Formats: sequence, C-alpha cells, structure tokens
Amino acid sequence: MTVAPRGTYDILPDQAMAWQWMEMKIREVLLAYGYGEIRTPIFEHTELFLRGIGETTDIVEKEMYSFTDKGGRNLSLRPEGTAPVVRAYIQHKLHGQGGATKLFYLGPMFRQERPQAGRFRQFHQFGVELIGEDSPMADAEMIVLAHDLYRQLGLTGLEIYLNTVGCPVCRQEYKKELIASLQASSDQLCSSCRLRLDRNPLRVLDCKEASCQALTEQVPLLHDYLCLDCREHFQQVTNLLDQVQVKYEIKPKLVRGLDYYTRTVFEVINHDLGAQNAICGGGRYDGLVEECGGPSVPGVGFASGMERLFMTLEQKALLPAFSRAPQVYIIPLSADLTTVGFEAAFLLRQNGFKVEVGFTPKSLKAQLKAANRSGAPLALIIGEDEWQDRQVTLKQMDTGDQVRADWAELAEQIGQMLAQTESL
Ligand code: HAM
Repeated sequence: MTVAPRGTYDILPDQAMAWQWMEMKIREVLLAYGYGEIRTPIFEHTELFLRGIGETTDIVEKEMYSFTDKGGRNLSLRPEGTAPVVRAYIQHKLHGQGGATKLFYLGPMFRQERPQAGRFRQFHQFGVELIGEDSPMADAEMIVLAHDLYRQLGLTGLEIYLNTVGCPVCRQEYKKELIASLQASSDQLCSSCRLRLDRNPLRVLDCKEASCQALTEQVPLLHDYLCLDCREHFQQVTNLLDQVQVKYEIKPKLVRGLDYYTRTVFEVINHDLGAQNAICGGGRYDGLVEECGGPSVPGVGFASGMERLFMTLEQKALLPAFSRAPQVYIIPLSADLTTVGFEAAFLLRQNGFKVEVGFTPKSLKAQLKAANRSGAPLALIIGEDEWQDRQVTLKQMDTGDQVRADWAELAEQIGQMLAQTESL
C-alpha cells in the first residue's frame, strides 16, 4: 500500500471543518486590519529563494524541493511566502499605488526537514507583509496584530520573543567581533556551526546544540554594536508595545533562519508544544525588495505555522465542535421505492434541509442503524403501504415516536418537527 510521503499528512473531513473555521477567523482579523489577500504560485524560480532567503541558510542549502522541469527551468516548491510576495509586489508594480502595501497569504509551504511533532515537510502558513513603510509603528503593528489574532482565537499565555539584528552596517562590525570571539574555541562547535562561522556566523547564536550554546554564553552581543538609528528604532518599537501593554521578552540571541532580516525580529512561542514551539516568526526586511530587483523600499511581516496553531487550539480545547450530521435520513423500504427516496432527498434539499439517503435498499433494521450512526434527528421511512396513499412515516430518532406525513406537505411538517427537536 502506498502511504502519504514522509512529513506529509491528510486532513480528513472532521478536521477539515475545524481548519476551515480557523482559516475563516484568521481571514476576518487580517481583513479588519486592512490587509488584502494575495495568492502566489506554489512553485517559483529557484533563483528567487537563493537571492531572497540567502544561499547559506539551512532552508536553501538543505531543505528546498527543487527540480528541473521539462523545459529545463530550475524551479522550487516555495519554502516560505515572503520572497514570492515580494516578487509579485515588484512584478505587478504594487509600489506604484502610493502608500504602504498590505498583503496577506495562506497556504502550503514545503521544506525537507526532519519530521517530528509540529514539524512537517508540507505545512501551512498564514503570513502578513507590510511593504513600503519604515516607521517603527509598522514593526509594532505586526507584533500587535499577531498577538490580537491569537487572542481572538481564544489564546492567551503565549510568549513573544523580541530582538533586533541591526542593519548591514552595524551587523558587519559585530560579525567580525563574533567570529573573533568564537574562533579560538571553534573546535567545540558542532559541525554545522563550524561551517556557519565562516559563512553565516549569526546563526551560531541560536544553534540548539548544548556545546554551541555553552560557547555563545560569553560572546559579545549585537545590542552593544547597534548604530544610533537602529538603537532608536528598536527603542521606539518597545515603547509602542509598552504603550498598549503587549508583553514581550527581549532575547538578545534571537536571529532567525532567513537572511533577509534587518532590525526587528520576533517569534511567538507556545511552551506546551515541545521542541517545535514557535507558532509565529517574523521581522523587518528593508533590503529584500531591492535584492529581488525592485525599488529600494522597506518591509516588515510575519508568518504563522498553522499546524502548530491548530495543535495549540486543540490542546487548549478552543476548537468548536462541528457536526456533519444530516437533519433527515431517508429510508426506502424496497428496491422499487429507492427512486421515491431519491426524489424526496432532491425536494427536501431544494427546501434547504440537510439530507442523507441510503443508496442501496437494505432491511429496516440495517437502515435505522445507519440513520442512528449519521446522527440525524429524523428518519423518513418510505414503506409500500403508506406510499399507496402518498404518505411516508417520520420517526423521531431519540424518542422513537412516529407520525405519518403527506408527501405534499413533507417539507412543512419536517420543518415543524425539527424546530421542536432543536428547541428542546
Ligand atoms: P519561519 O520562521 O521560517 O519564517 O516560519 C514561520 C513559522 O512557520 C514558524 O514559526 C513555524 O510556526 C512555521 N514553520 C516553519 N517550518 C515549519 C515546518 N517544517 N513544519 C511546521 N511549521 C513550520 C518565515 O517563513 C518567514 N517568511 C516569516 C516572515 C514573513 N518574515 C517576514 N515576513
């Protein structure tokens, strides 16, 4: 038997309803904040991600699903949404419309990571990008928006980790100091970090290996190397968050796994999720639009892992219960009457009822069992005798009470009986 590929999974009908509810809530909040939905392709030219995310990041080096199509193009399944949104922003000249551009997206992303609880190879993100605004208020709006959205889903007690990674100028100076400080004991770094030290030294700071964490205990911190503008920007972001009493914790070693970040970076954490506890990550990316061939405009955004969000909502019993039960289950008692059952289903559905009908004639007992399993409060039984008088039997599934109903008045009578059941 072939099963779904490693790191992927199926969303079955009962869960799909809860997913739809979650997606609807997310859309409601994002639209209320003035963001417009954008849908970009699932695959893009590989080069976009090399340029956008950075050639020395784990995502690009190890995790992309890249392939050459039959026309010889190098393509990749999108591992994230920011670079594609920036590509679309440039391609459709959305900057020409004046003011900041506010976009959101929602959909599957692909990374060939080692699967574990909360980490998949095909996963879903919703994300928000605010392009063309450099005010610290835009950074603060991102964090407040994520916080508010989770609150509206019923989630409290999530932690916000905040940091600044400075700009390319102050970071350059810092990188030199960091490399110098780690070089002497580089043999104690994990094999990935030994490579990172040359190519992407900031990433050593958030390595999860104990030996690397021990070494980074005493390294200089970027905060001490920030230029005046970056320092001021960060101060204003924290002032704004304080102003609206959104709590955060400054994590001086939070650097994130994508190279496009400048200044503010943040993550939202659910400690109850285990190792993969970040349900959201984002930050400012002032050089990305230009790097991708567009004008020099700043940007800021975040993306939230929807599986992790779903798991969090499930954990805290915040997903509403959904029922797919029909209101009426139709039981034709003989092969000849199945067409009457088919017609009854058609008529009742036209009158707005949720109806199910047995496709093959079975015994009354078997069909009543099926009606019970379906969760329908009413069974509509079509038997030979009643049908001679153009009548059917309506059975209340919970009490077992039965009445006869005229075919001509079926919809009306069912409406009344359901209203009675629902008002109990
Ligand atoms: P990211 O931190 O790579 O950022 O991903 C954002 C969120 O996606 C993570 O916090 C996590 O919840 C979820 N996520 C990532 N990888 C997986 C996985 N393999 N399985 C399940 N969930 C996962 C970005 O993607 C940036 N584009 C965010 C951004 C938008 N920055 C600015 N704008």
